Amino acid sequence: MGSVKRVVAGGPVFGVALLLAAPPQAAARAAGSPISDEQVKARVEALLGQMTLEEKIGQLTQIGGGPFPPGGKPEETVRAGGAGSVLWVDNKRFNELQKVAVEESRLKVPLLFGLDVIHGYQTIFPAPLGMAASWDPAVEERAQAVAAKEARAAGVHWTFAPMVDIARDARWGRIMEGAGEDPYLGSAMAAAQVRGFQGPYLGAPDRVIACVKHFAAYGAAEGGRDYDSVYVPEGLLRNVYLPPFHAAVRAGVGSLMSAYMDLNDVPAVANRFLLRDVLRKEWGFQGFVVSDAIAVGNLLIQGFARDGRDAAERAFLAGLNMDMASGTFPQHLPGLVRDGRITVAQIDEAVRPLLAVKFRLGLFDQPYSDDARAREVLGAPEHRREARLAAQRSLVLLRNERGLLPLKKTLSSVAVIGPLADSKHGTEGGWMVFGHVPAAVTVREGIRGKLGDAARVEYAKGPDIKRDIPSFLDDILGGPPKSTETPAEAEVAFAEAVKTAQKAEVVVMVLGEESNMSGEAASRASLDLPGRQEELLKAVVATGKPVVLVLLAGRPLSINWAAANVPAILEAWQPGSEGGHAVADALFGDVNPGGKLPVTFPRSAGYSPFYYARNLTFQPEGSPMYRSRYWDGPTTPLFPFGYGLSYTTFSYANLQPELPQVKVGGRVGVSVDVTNRGSVAGDEVVQLYVHQKAGSASRPMRELKGFERVALKPGETKTVRFGLGPEELGYWSTSTGKWVQEAEAFDLWAGGDSTAPFHADLTVTP
Ligand code: NOJ
Repeated sequence: MGSVKRVVAGGPVFGVALLLAAPPQAAARAAGSPISDEQVKARVEALLGQMTLEEKIGQLTQIGGGPFPPGGKPEETVRAGGAGSVLWVDNKRFNELQKVAVEESRLKVPLLFGLDVIHGYQTIFPAPLGMAASWDPAVEERAQAVAAKEARAAGVHWTFAPMVDIARDARWGRIMEGAGEDPYLGSAMAAAQVRGFQGPYLGAPDRVIACVKHFAAYGAAEGGRDYDSVYVPEGLLRNVYLPPFHAAVRAGVGSLMSAYMDLNDVPAVANRFLLRDVLRKEWGFQGFVVSDAIAVGNLLIQGFARDGRDAAERAFLAGLNMDMASGTFPQHLPGLVRDGRITVAQIDEAVRPLLAVKFRLGLFDQPYSDDARAREVLGAPEHRREARLAAQRSLVLLRNERGLLPLKKTLSSVAVIGPLADSKHGTEGGWMVFGHVPAAVTVREGIRGKLGDAARVEYAKGPDIKRDIPSFLDDILGGPPKSTETPAEAEVAFAEAVKTAQKAEVVVMVLGEESNMSGEAASRASLDLPGRQEELLKAVVATGKPVVLVLLAGRPLSINWAAANVPAILEAWQPGSEGGHAVADALFGDVNPGGKLPVTFPRSAGYSPFYYARNLTFQPEGSPMYRSRYWDGPTTPLFPFGYGLSYTTFSYANLQPELPQVKVGGRVGVSVDVTNRGSVAGDEVVQLYVHQKAGSASRPMRELKGFERVALKPGETKTVRFGLGPEELGYWSTSTGKWVQEAEAFDLWAGGDSTAPFHADLTVTP
């Protein structure tokens, strides 16, 4: 056996102890900033003193600068001081519009440009679900720092990210934009993204302002249908859906976006409980809140507000600072102030954080972006290197029978087959900005590059895949090319793909979902491989050739047949610009996959919502009497949360708390040894789960409360140490209506996924 090292889980990256000790939000932000809080305050008050009511309300208004909403005349509005921010502006338009604001408007207040920079601006990183599969907050932080640098150089000041909605229903298309099902992993990724986007303080050079969204519980949309109502009891809200938002606020996030849907019958954009009681009063949030696009105006459609005026009043008074593109604030707030429904002091209070952020960003001194700087920064080679590393770390090996992977580089021929094998859109994934031309290395290109001229790399697309009902976002953002394939052409493509497989030594099939099949307005009723992909997979496997399946998708897919019949499966998510290289690196053993699933893979859509942290029932787990919760399928997942294989194997030993007991309010260390038992180096994500055995409310059978991705050489052992304190051992109790930590017995488990078998006991004493 090799050396034994100690690793402190989360230490520099996501130490909960560090979080608890973190200074209040404002102080954390100001450290290192060239402009002090006092200076910002003084400049804000001086400017506010010069503003008319209409100009103030202009600052609370965000207008669309691009094709959305259609028919707008941004220049006129900006010249009149009627907009504080513009969203969705094409690169070339930033400076044009800014010039109008700072040279032609009365008070010359610069515009704040906001855009969805979700997983990269020009250099595209894995989509957030894939980044979460890395279980590596440091790599996510670096990725978003690159995204921020490119976006800022291009003229963007503010990104509508991170999206931190917990999603436990894979039918919901937006599951790809978040970190998956778990609040602990989700909180770590949320904080990492805020640090990456914003840097050490608000307004730091080469960074942007982050906007945590969608507040709150959007991921619990009924039936997984996008925009549908959400009913979440307070316990679930506080224990599961809110923690990643709280983590982002603690990390100093500058802004927050309210969600579209009703939360327990009150639309999130007009939800005073969320926006005032929780966000401002409990968490002390000092940034600004923006609505989601057209959400204020749509309070009428939602059957909540009587008319536009009612909508503006209720959203504003609930705690909204900025109206995104519904036009309701400029239309109605002046009248509401004149009629005494809203005071000028309340308007001033809403405007202050918006002006403050512009001062912090230095926009009054340097409002324009610099084309030369943009050329230097966008797509820089070091950004591509970082994207390749991130994509490598996001890969999850789901199956590898008889060691089919890694493949040998001496292969004479490989067939690369499937509708995503050479799709730049599918490789980059969703949420690309205007004018973005996908420049991803596809899996076909990655394999070609890896093998060089010595091997034959044949490609066949097979039949096209497409949505049954198109997405409105395809037209706005530019989705994958529209398929015009006829059934007869599909038949030919099918036969061609099988023929290509027959001629090869090994087949790599790249299947899954196109970029527009997940994301906003991309929910599905099925989780199966779309189109004829499974049929093609079966036909190719029937050729008897060794088949490796690479999945590209923004959600878990119910690949039951593949999981039983295809010897090797690699989940690559939406891996970004360098995706094809990263996949080839793993397929040919230059990289050993070490990612783990941030979501449970259900056996079918009918299992949804499905997640590991369920409460126990009144029967023992596995009881023969009440076992058949479904009679047409096991209740176990296809692949559990936290799961992922490696080209090596790991063993665990010595799981133990430092002491068997800890007092309420105290902290105890828990350590476990992990050893690489194979002959190649590899990463293991060591996971710690807890279960409170009794209490004032039932607790989930397992909850993740610590993780660490460790690299181990062959034969090497490391001791990983976690900390458990009130934050990990407490919860919001429905019975008492408050946060509690209870003197009770706990189970601890450690291992490489959420079924971790290594157990220890811990007792919390009064
Ligand atoms: C609607 C989406 O829900 C939100 O996530 C996004 O930031 C805005 N549109 C602006 O693009």
